[in-house]
Amino acid sequence: MTPAFSGFFITGTDTEIGKTALTAALTHLLGQSGRRAVAIKPIAAGLEQVDGRWVNDDVQRLRAASNIEVQDQEVGPLQLRHACAPHIAAVLENVAIDRQALLAEVRRTAAKAEVSVVEGVGGFCVPLVEGASPWDSADLAVDLALPVVLVVGMRLGCINHALLSAEAIRARGLKLVAWVANQVDPNMGHADANFATLSQRLQAPCWGRVPFLLQADPAHIAPYLNAPAVLQELVAHPAPSPRQNIVILISGSGSNMQAIAETAQTEQWAQRHGIQIAAVISNRADAAGLPIAKRLGLHTEVLPHTQFASRTDFDAALRQLIDRFAPDLVVLAGFMRVLTPEFVQHYAGRLINIHPSLLPAFPGLNTHQRAIEAGCKVAGATVHEVSVEVDQGHILAQTVVPVLPDDDAETLAQRVLAAEHRLYPTAVRQKLSQKLSQN
Ligand code: GRF
Repeated sequence: MTPAFSGFFITGTDTEIGKTALTAALTHLLGQSGRRAVAIKPIAAGLEQVDGRWVNDDVQRLRAASNIEVQDQEVGPLQLRHACAPHIAAVLENVAIDRQALLAEVRRTAAKAEVSVVEGVGGFCVPLVEGASPWDSADLAVDLALPVVLVVGMRLGCINHALLSAEAIRARGLKLVAWVANQVDPNMGHADANFATLSQRLQAPCWGRVPFLLQADPAHIAPYLNAPAVLQELVAHPAPSPRQNIVILISGSGSNMQAIAETAQTEQWAQRHGIQIAAVISNRADAAGLPIAKRLGLHTEVLPHTQFASRTDFDAALRQLIDRFAPDLVVLAGFMRVLTPEFVQHYAGRLINIHPSLLPAFPGLNTHQRAIEAGCKVAGATVHEVSVEVDQGHILAQTVVPVLPDDDAETLAQRVLAAEHRLYPTAVRQKLSQKLSQN
């Protein structure tokens, strides 16, 4: 299994055994090592009102332990009001938990950091969604494929809970990378003997034995953790890094987006090059490419330009939306909007387009008809950087197809489009590798 990103998944022998405290401490420790570290709690249950705002205490603590700028919503993308098992809270609150959407949110937050510490919900097998497609906390760990750290709440009964959890983690094909003993009962009898038994039986390294602390903040807990072992594990199992995010903009059929996404999957861009398609954004809700993107497991967003009074307003909102995905490359794939100079300048060097002609010939519309009328023997497509002047940016790649004697605009368009599907994915990957070598 290839991890979705670099980091760890934290589970525990039970609820209320210090999972959040350890997640925060591990995040703090990783931050101290000079890495950009974020803690994520995909599903948090239990909100309270503070200064008129509903907040989850765990999310607040995890956000504070992260050393990058993140919002509550990014640390805890799904926060339920009732402090109970999420599938029960979701029913009570009439919330439909969308697995793919939630995973996309987690990945998006993780993409902002170099390393992420993801806290599970309750114990390892807590249900998240009931019904025809059930989903539980263990599935969440599998979806993210992160190495698992088991927090053992040291109290009577913990040996059985710990051994069962370890068995379940391994049964899911996950790596139990380490465990941490967290003293939750200050008066536990035979604590040393329990610790010795766990050390012997868990068959995983212990990253720390945390005593019962009155101040359970990350800075106080982190010194009890074996920092060299934690960092060594990160080096031993690096996720594809550095990560590069692509955002694709479409308006219509999205066949170029599909070609890029399918090539990314076949060629394993995520695993081999750390390249991921972070989002597909359309300015039209009825774009045929949207359901295709969803089927390919991509995160989609719609921002209808018709809802904005001016081009400038729309472009500003689009920019805000795109930037949520921290893009290294913004790919226009049949995005039928002329962009404002401010927008183009904002993405200078990381905004590309494909145009169905051999630029500089035939910029603009009706390219195929114009190529036939001009008597061209060849036509083609161009991938270029987007500049303020339409279809005039630096040329990155071109492909050539013949113009056949019987061609009309339609048959020529089909031949060019098929060639675009070969050209664009290659150009995207080359552009990103080039950016990488320049960094
Ligand atoms: C392609 O012909 C591309 O060159 C042009 O718009 C068309 C998009 O097609 N910019 P699709 O939406 O990718 O199928």
